[in-house]
Amino acid sequence: MKRLYSVGLTALFAILLCSNVYALQLLYPLDGTYVTKSNYLIVKGGTDPLLTGVSIEINGVNSDVIDISSEAYRAAFGDMFIVKPLFDPGKNQIIVEGFVGKERMARVTATVYYQDRFDQAPPAGLSREVFHYPGREEACVGCHNMTPTTAELSNPDPRKNPCASCHMRMLNLPHVHGPAGVYECTYCHAVDSSPSKYMPRLEGAALCLECHEDKMEEFRKSNFVHGPVDAGLCLACHDPHASSERGQLTMPAYELCASCHAQVVKVPHVARGSGGKPHPLKGVVNPAGTGEDLSCASCHEPHSGVTSAMLRWGAQSRMTLCAKCHSK
Ligand code: HEC
Ligand code: HEC
Ligand code: HEC
Ligand code: HEC
Ligand code: HEC
Ligand code: HEC
Ligand code: HEC
Ligand code: HEC
Repeated sequence: MKRLYSVGLTALFAILLCSNVYALQLLYPLDGTYVTKSNYLIVKGGTDPLLTGVSIEINGVNSDVIDISSEAYRAAFGDMFIVKPLFDPGKNQIIVEGFVGKERMARVTATVYYQDRFDQAPPAGLSREVFHYPGREEACVGCHNMTPTTAELSNPDPRKNPCASCHMRMLNLPHVHGPAGVYECTYCHAVDSSPSKYMPRLEGAALCLECHEDKMEEFRKSNFVHGPVDAGLCLACHDPHASSERGQLTMPAYELCASCHAQVVKVPHVARGSGGKPHPLKGVVNPAGTGEDLSCASCHEPHSGVTSAMLRWGAQSRMTLCAKCHSK
């Protein structure tokens, strides 16, 4: 007990003594904001003298002290320290500590909310964290191109495209959306939006339908359009950059549908088989598909349909639908 106490005091003393010298700064995300993706955590260490290690604690889970003292690291990153954190959904208590050798020299804390659900309102009083304000970008000038020309922006080569130097990692997934894959970032993100740069050029479905005009035609011809599609919420189901699922879905189809239609999966759906077993909705191969698993989307169109149940193959009745997979 006594030992712990004195260690604590030494550390506290060190912080008080050195807080001016070791200006540890959390550049992103800022305290009291919320983020919608767990993308980056960016720390600046200060240079006089340099910290040799950094540790990060998120909701009580502490990393080891990460060594940032090597010549190679210094040459490439200077006093910048960038990691991809694993935020917990909801509130995240972040503690970053800077070390010289084994001695803890500096500490910053922040509370950041990770809003991972699309269909929930962000917590009251918190503002959305936005990075691309001119003032904040200053810390990156010198190593990254923060004022790219139109010609540079249209370079599809990730080794040369100015957005790729920081955002390349977001495309490291099996299914990359057409325009993102060729770094047409500024087709969708306005270069001249203000006060912050790179806001989407258009809201909601309008942006998507510029290129996916055939979808608009399809919705217009349908008797029934699915709630979120009608509301223009393409992003409720699709990721505009990259995804581990086919069709750029944000989650596997079954989980995606079930996330809004929780009641459907609680009771037997479609029919009961022998012995009263409910009809499978996942976990078996879709006999009418091309090898993918059965899911809600095997029987329902995701966007629109001839009836409100939006059955596949334009089926107007259950019977027509059943026959597509059950021959007898
Ligand atoms: C001292 C130079 C330096 C400074 C200053 C700097 N960076 Fe970097 N950063 C680098 C280098 C070098 C890389 C690796 C680039 C590569 O692999 O092509 C990098 C990569 C990155 C990455 C990608 C990391 C990954 O692997 O996913 C991000 C994000 C990033 N920097 C953000 C920033 C931000 C934001 C700033 C300003 C607040 C900044 N950097 C300032 C040198 C720097
Ligand atoms: C110096 C690194 C760096 C460069 C270069 C960079 N970004 Fe970012 N950008 C970030 C960081 C860090 C964030 C905040 C974390 C995140 O969302 O990934 C961010 C966030 C964003 C966001 C979300 C809104 C916001 O401001 O937080 C958009 C959109 C974006 N960047 C687009 C672009 C585009 C388009 C380019 C190329 C013209 C670009 N970025 C170049 C580092 C960079
Ligand atoms: C098809 C249009 C489109 C393209 C192409 C596109 N984006 Fe986006 N991006 C969006 C939309 C829409 C959002 C969501 C904005 C929001 O949530 O308010 C977004 C959000 C972001 C964010 C915020 C974090 C996130 O993942 O939601 C970043 C960072 C980003 N884009 C970077 C890029 C970069 C870098 C490229 C080029 C490789 C790119 N985008 C290409 C439409 C696009
Ligand atoms: C600049 C033009 C452009 C914009 C804007 C655009 N897309 Fe795309 N989209 C494409 C291209 C090109 C493909 C690849 C087409 C292909 O491979 O058949 C694609 C593919 C897709 C796919 C996958 C199709 C498949 O068969 O797997 C989906 C889903 C999609 N886009 C949704 C969206 C959404 C949602 C938006 C709005 C956030 C959007 N797109 C905005 C050009 C665009
Ligand atoms: C409720 C979820 C949901 C919403 C909202 C949604 N989609 Fe989809 N979308 C899907 C699913 C599921 C697929 C099928 C993916 C697969 O299995 O290949 C799909 C497929 C697509 C495809 C490729 C196949 C096709 O049908 O042409 C495009 C393009 C597309 N969506 C565009 C859009 C656009 C544009 C919007 C907004 C107007 C939108 N989606 C809204 C769930 C959705
Ligand atoms: C973002 C939330 C959301 C997601 C994700 C979603 N839905 Fe929906 N769905 C709705 C809303 C809202 C309605 C309209 C409810 C109403 O009008 O009563 C609806 C209506 C429906 C209906 C018509 C219900 C009726 O009363 O006739 C069907 C069928 C349906 N969804 C199937 C799906 C399928 C299949 C998926 C996955 C591809 C899916 N939904 C994903 C929100 C969602
Ligand atoms: C094997 C085919 C099949 C699968 C798989 C399937 N459905 Fe259905 N679904 C139907 C049929 C058939 C109806 C009834 C249509 C009617 O009577 O007009 C229906 C009706 C619905 C309705 C409207 C009525 C109601 O029960 O609320 C919703 C919403 C719905 N399904 C959502 C889903 C979701 C979400 C999933 C995945 C968890 C799913 N369905 C999986 C065939 C299927
Ligand atoms: C998209 C394909 C598909 C559609 C459409 C479909 N089913 Fe099925 N159904 C399946 C699959 C896959 C199984 C599981 C078969 C297995 O386990 O071998 C199944 C199983 C069943 C079973 C259980 C059989 C048993 O022996 O336990 C019944 C009953 C059933 N379906 C009835 C229906 C009815 C009624 C409809 C129309 C309302 C329908 N199905 C529509 C794919 C489908």
